Amino acid sequence: MPEMLADNRHMATSSRISATQKPGLMNVSHTEPLRGRPQTIAEPLLTNFWSIRFMGRLDRYDLPLSTTSDLAAERYRTGVDLLLSLWPGAGEALDEAIAADPDFALAHAARARLHAISAQPSEARAKIVKALDLVARNGTERERTHVNALSLAIHGQSAKALAAVLVHTDRWPRDIVILSMPLGAFGLFAFSGMADHDQARVDLCERHAKHFDADDWWFLTYRGWAHGENGNLRLGRTLTQRALQLRRHNVNAAHAVAHVLYESGANEEAQEFITGWLPEYDKTGVLHGHIAWHSALIALELGDIERALAVYNDHVAPASSQGTPINIVSDTSSFLWRLHAYGHTVPAGMWDDAAKYASNFFQDVGFPFVDFHMALVAAASGNGEAVEQRVAVLHKLIEDGKLSAGPVVPAICRASLAFAEEEYALAAEILAPVAREVVRIGGSGAQREIVEDMLLVALMRSGEAAKAHAILNERLQRRPSPRDTRWLNQLLSPQTSLAN
Ligand SMILES: [Fe+2]
Repeated sequence: MPEMLADNRHMATSSRISATQKPGLMNVSHTEPLRGRPQTIAEPLLTNFWSIRFMGRLDRYDLPLSTTSDLAAERYRTGVDLLLSLWPGAGEALDEAIAADPDFALAHAARARLHAISAQPSEARAKIVKALDLVARNGTERERTHVNALSLAIHGQSAKALAAVLVHTDRWPRDIVILSMPLGAFGLFAFSGMADHDQARVDLCERHAKHFDADDWWFLTYRGWAHGENGNLRLGRTLTQRALQLRRHNVNAAHAVAHVLYESGANEEAQEFITGWLPEYDKTGVLHGHIAWHSALIALELGDIERALAVYNDHVAPASSQGTPINIVSDTSSFLWRLHAYGHTVPAGMWDDAAKYASNFFQDVGFPFVDFHMALVAAASGNGEAVEQRVAVLHKLIEDGKLSAGPVVPAICRASLAFAEEEYALAAEILAPVAREVVRIGGSGAQREIVEDMLLVALMRSGEAAKAHAILNERLQRRPSPRDTRWLNQLLSPQTSLAN
């Protein structure tokens, strides 16, 4: 299981914050002893000494930092902002914080989180183990539970990590390194297996909204993302566009804007936005290839295949992207699958390149979002045996109670094989009963839409026009789409070849 997988249990604490308290002051808690403070002496003079020594070493949300170095604290604040923007330079800033104070536990912990996001698990584990050691010796209560939550996630104990995060953020909601953990497309809620994780993200953001300023770029980003993915596109768009306005070099906000525009059917606007913004984001940025994937997807939907392939080749393909394996595997497989399913020819070698890249990763089974995309690659590459093997292991995991996303996972893998083998009636038969459960695999709505596309095309190609018509009508009421309109017109003109 990946480091950010999680279960969904929310555990309340008795330390809920009063809405009348000023968050910044409140979080400099009386419950937080300072690092190295003698436990048996409590004279006021000594208290003042420690307080004065500690002054100024706070994070950007006024939470105390156990470091005696002003430089380390400043580099940490900068590094965390870059980390939460997924912007190049985060690693360097956090390394400088560690160099300035090697005993600064939260700097090690934030660096561990960045390693984990960057698919560097060994480095992540080494850094978080160091942070655990430091907070055990010198950390405040907040720092100990902060590091513990990250450690659980990095060590693959995602259900416990989510529980720990929810307890921690009830007490310290402005500890954004921790509050960010359940909130993204690949966050602890998304990969929890829950069917209602979109709502859970909204609920978490709204519960803590009172602790953040109206113009907090970080909170606007995630609050907007949560609402957009949960169907409130107008609010999602307002919040994420404001977030981007406040901090343009924040790929999480740019990504969220791209999603709400796409979900709104504002394809041209989304394309124009990505084209203008992406050159500002270095190709080494974690989400560079994925933002470009959105552009390729829009071009494909608009029927501009030449542009879609050009963007894919320049930014998304394994030879071009510098993203992490989960993004490269999911973006390559889902783009090429759509290209084929929409009736276009996948140029020679593209599936081979995607399959060759994917073969280096994710051979273990049980990470549903990845299982599905690995099944797409294998099915499209003619490796039905690999799909069947993955499906068998998924069924065993379900039997053993170890796959919280449940039967939808092997179903969509098996349906992908049926679709690739042009057994469209079988693909539709497998997909139809589980279509509404696909949300359990996590990722974004745009990423999961491929399963509904597969069901639609399978229905059209197996003569189930009425069922396809019903799905298309529902989708077009939700979101204008030239692709869906084309398909609907094909259904209404039976002499036209369907979805070819
Ligand atoms: Fe995305």
